[in-house]
Formats: sequence, structure tokens, C-alpha cells
Amino acid sequence: MSRPCLSNALHVIAGLLLSAGVAGAEPAEVPVGFEEEPPPAAPAPVDAEQFAAAQSAWGDVYRVLTHPRCMNCHPTGDRPLQTDSSRPHRMNISRTSVKNGVACSTCHRAVNSEALGIAGGPPGAPHWQLPPEQTPMVFQGHTPASLCAQLKDPARNGGKDLAGLLKHVGHDKLVLWGWQPGGARTVPPLSHPDFVKAFTTWVDGGGACPGEKRQAPPAPAPPEAPAAP
Ligand code: HEC
Ligand code: HEC
Repeated sequence: MSRPCLSNALHVIAGLLLSAGVAGAEPAEVPVGFEEEPPPAAPAPVDAEQFAAAQSAWGDVYRVLTHPRCMNCHPTGDRPLQTDSSRPHRMNISRTSVKNGVACSTCHRAVNSEALGIAGGPPGAPHWQLPPEQTPMVFQGHTPASLCAQLKDPARNGGKDLAGLLKHVGHDKLVLWGWQPGGARTVPPLSHPDFVKAFTTWVDGGGACPGEKRQAPPAPAPPEAPAAP
């Protein structure tokens, strides 16, 4: 009952605002149906404490991402890296060798070589490969701020939002491999649960990056009527 009345009232108010001269600044043509679209979803404002917590949690996330178990598959170039000193993969392995027909899975199976009874062989996990050429997701050579900015940019992370990134680091088999790397390989500086916890704090704080300023929540509407143009 009250809905049609409210919507009529809103139309009247909108009409009044337009006739009051606000329209002077409007574009000449409004596409048909434009007024029916819901307003774009604004990012939920994050409180100052969560924002600061996210910035500090990022330090821990960064230490994991740049650990050799992660960085070795997220290199600046087209060649994966190997060992704790992250030197280029032997045998000239690269995105090019894959294109030439030598899949990573030729040597890297779904499990570590030790699980197949071969000590010191190639490590393994399902879908062992480098990130795609178009979005190489480089972790090497970044400052904390630049890696943070890249990671949350959907154009550079394979179209993921913060929730999608959190899901990836919590469940992806290649991520989990980092804590079960086989052989004498070292593991990242945080446990996987602590890493996911730090990542969650970062996501809950809006993915705040070092040096970034918090976007202030929208100010309450001013009491005065808008000034005439
Ligand atoms: C064997 C290679 C390999 C290893 C090891 C590896 N990754 Fe990845 N990583 C990938 C590939 C391939 C993708 C892209 C897959 C996708 O988008 O679904 C990816 C994507 C990601 C992404 C998603 C988006 C982005 O911008 O980076 C994150 C986050 C990530 N990896 C974190 C990690 C972490 C943390 C570790 C170490 C614990 C790790 N990776 C180890 C291959 C690897
Ligand atoms: C011809 C066999 C072969 C192919 C093909 C191959 N690898 Fe390897 N890879 C190995 C062996 C053997 C090791 C183990 C050497 C070691 O322990 O450092 C290794 C180690 C690695 C490591 C080091 C893991 C770590 O953190 O120390 C990464 C990362 C890796 N390979 C990624 C790749 C990727 C990505 C591809 C495909 C683009 C690939 N490899 C193709 C044989 C291969």
C-alpha cells in the first residue's frame, strides 16, 4: 500500500529538484530506463581499526607470498625458479618450453616424488603450472605496497575480488603444497592457518595496503538546501 505512494513521492521530489534548476548541470540526454537502475554498490566503509589491522596483517601475508615456496612459481620472468635461493629452473624450463610441448606435468605429478618412492625428485601437486602469461601474478621483486596493489587488482589477479582471493589461499592445491613441499624444502614463515588468519584480517579491512589512506565513510547530508547554480 505505502510503496506506490512512496515511489510517487520520490518522483515528485525528483521532479521538483530538476525544475529547481539542478538540471542545468545534467547531461542533455538520459538513456531510457536509466532511472530504474539501482545505484552502484559502494564499498562498505571499513572502520579505522580494521583498516589499520589490515595494513599490519599485510606484512605477514607479504612474507608468505615472497617465500620461495610461493615465489618460485610467481617469478618476474617466464621461467619458474627453484630452491630456497630462487634460481632459474634448470633445463631452460619456461612458458616457451610449455608452448613447445613440454608440459610441467611431464615431470611434476599430482604428488611429491617422495610419495612415488623417488627421493629428491620433482615436487608435485594437481595442476602444477605457472600463472597465465596474460596475468603472470608476479610476486618476485615487489615492495609490500606494490605487491598489495597488484594482488587486489582484478585486472592483474585473474578477475578475483577479495573474497575470491581468500578462497584461493585457503583451498587451492598449489597453495596448500607450500606447506607439504616434500624433500628437505623449507616452508613459509607462518603456518597455513595463521596465514589464512592474516589474510582474513587483510580482507576484512578492505584489503588496505601500506601507505594507503582510508576512505572516510560518507558524511551525513548537510542540513541546508543545495545552492542555486
Ligand atoms: C606450482 C606453481 C605454484 C605454486 C607453488 C604456487 N602458486 Fe600461486 N598460483 C599458481 C597459478 C597457476 C595460479 C593461477 C591459478 C588461478 O588463478 O586459479 C596462482 C594464483 C595464485 C593467487 C591468485 C591471484 C594472484 O594475483 O596471485 C594467489 C594469491 C596465489 N597463487 C598464492 C600462492 C601462495 C600463497 C603460494 C605458496 C604457499 C603459491 N601461490 C604457490 C601457481 C603456483
Ligand atoms: C624435465 C622435467 C621438468 C619439467 C618439464 C619441469 N620441471 Fe620443475 N622441477 C623439476 C625437478 C627435477 C625439480 C626439483 C629440483 C629441486 O629440488 O630443486 C623441479 C623443481 C621445480 C620447482 C621448485 C620448487 C621449489 O619451491 O623449490 C618449481 C617451482 C618448478 N619446478 C616449477 C615448474 C614449472 C612451473 C614447470 C612448467 C613450466 C616445470 N617446473 C617443469 C623438473 C621439471
